[in-house]
Amino acid sequence: MSFFSDVERELTVIDRTPLTADVVALDLAATNGRPLPVWTPGAHVDLEVAPGVERQYSLCGDLADRTRWRVAILREPAGRGGSLAAHALAVGTVLRARGPRSNFAYEPRPGSPVTFVAGGVGITAVLPMLSSAAEAGADWELHYCGRERTRMAWVEDLAARHGARVHVHDSAAGDRLDVSALVRRRGTGGIWACGPAPLLDALHEAAASVPGAQVHVEHFTPQELSAPVWEGPFEVELAASGEVVVVPPQTSVLEALESHGAITVSSCREGTCGTCETVVLEGDVDHRDSVLTQSEREENLSMMTCVSRAACPRLVLDL
Ligand code: FES
Repeated sequence: MSFFSDVERELTVIDRTPLTADVVALDLAATNGRPLPVWTPGAHVDLEVAPGVERQYSLCGDLADRTRWRVAILREPAGRGGSLAAHALAVGTVLRARGPRSNFAYEPRPGSPVTFVAGGVGITAVLPMLSSAAEAGADWELHYCGRERTRMAWVEDLAARHGARVHVHDSAAGDRLDVSALVRRRGTGGIWACGPAPLLDALHEAAASVPGAQVHVEHFTPQELSAPVWEGPFEVELAASGEVVVVPPQTSVLEALESHGAITVSSCREGTCGTCETVVLEGDVDHRDSVLTQSEREENLSMMTCVSRAACPRLVLDL
């Protein structure tokens, strides 16, 4: 289950630093000048990068610095426009933000082995984790995968500062991460990974055949949705009022709740951010999000209403 703050605040872009040809870092401070909330490694924030365009970005700056948050954003010309809007933000721009929120927590343990895997701009999510691991004296290593070394943010700095702990897998140079070998060697100590879906899927697949292997991942792109378990309409009961909302097959639970006038919060609306997480009181859920772990899905204590559906005729939600 995610740890989150839905407090909305205004942030001002106070600095803008190109890190590579495609990645820009933005430093953001509270517009009212007050200290920003504390956050933990793996946390992200929702930023409204243009009117009505909200995106989630991992915090990747200094954990102790409450005067600014830092995010780094990959420019994706073929994307849905959020990254282009973010790249166009100038110093002095004020934007709305929500969070921080974390679905991807990591607690360093001195002396314990831990492995971080980053694919491309996924490095932003693991950067604060490896700083914490290094500070705590954990036995950590980073595997940083990218298409081309010159386009991998912070790669030279990381390699220079941490030496042999940092393994760079540069596809253009023919170096690809052997996921199975890594999971066999380091999986039982825990692997924290953020990057493209094929990399994360490969880690999960490899972990399935290594007893005791643990893989924790952060998705920023939605999973491909399989056919729903329950294909017909179903009902959602709002526990506080006893009202019942019917959810038709082509409508999400979130959309049905919104049409009914229920109070809801949402951000990505594609199952990746955790904002719409809602407590489930009764009924089996067809979990289709990228936030909950397999064991959380099995516990069935909450659901992401933007993509997950009922696996039975009626759900009762804590709304
Ligand atoms: S709104 Fe992001 S997971 Fe539902």
